[in-house]
Amino acid sequence: MVMRELIIAPSLFAAAPDNFGAAVTNAERWGAKYLHIDIMDGHFVPNLSFGPDIVAGLRKKSGLYFDVHLMIENPEIYAPQFIKAGADCLTVHPEAKGDMDKILRLCKEYNIGFGIALKPHTPLDEFEAYYKDCDLLLIMSIEPGFGGQTFMPIAPPRISQAKEIRREKGYRYKISVDGGINQETGASCKKAGADVLVAGSAIFLSDDPGALISRLKGE
Ligand code: DX5
Ligand code: ZN
Repeated sequence: MVMRELIIAPSLFAAAPDNFGAAVTNAERWGAKYLHIDIMDGHFVPNLSFGPDIVAGLRKKSGLYFDVHLMIENPEIYAPQFIKAGADCLTVHPEAKGDMDKILRLCKEYNIGFGIALKPHTPLDEFEAYYKDCDLLLIMSIEPGFGGQTFMPIAPPRISQAKEIRREKGYRYKISVDGGINQETGASCKKAGADVLVAGSAIFLSDDPGALISRLKGE
């Protein structure tokens, strides 16, 4: 039997802000496959992060899969800039004001992934209409907006539910989980069926991020 290897996605938001370049080269060296890039607009979430120029700059240095998590209102306005900057997947919140159909069309047109991110209390069936086209379903295990928060135990049962919906309906999305992931919470999400673990503070504040990533993968 082939063991399922988890994909680890370090969240750039937790990296030292004066050295994002090192963060991406290190993430690759530590065995990560994805880079999770949080985009915040001060409206959908009460915080700000970075824009497409940073993504484009990092793209030149990295072959990691760029999962761009858009925590912004009207993501359809900015989506073309993030696609041009080198996003491999745009993961959007349907709870935010915006045009999901347009984002989906753009992702298809440019042949990149289309992801849906759900806040911890959004019912999993509320936006199921988009699941058939979804490549990545991001289950938030914190309220979006800040790193370093405590993992919400509501997440693992939601991961199992997302897995069950995928099985029943024949969808193909990967299940990702984001917020408060460390070795312990990561293991509970893996057990529940997560395919991708997003981790910010746990990785970038670790004394040995490479070893932590191996443990998160279950190696
Ligand atoms: C929060 C972001 C998360 C965050 C995770 O809005 O979407 O990706 O960076 O950070 P940690 O792992 O520190 O909870
Ligand atoms: Zn995120």
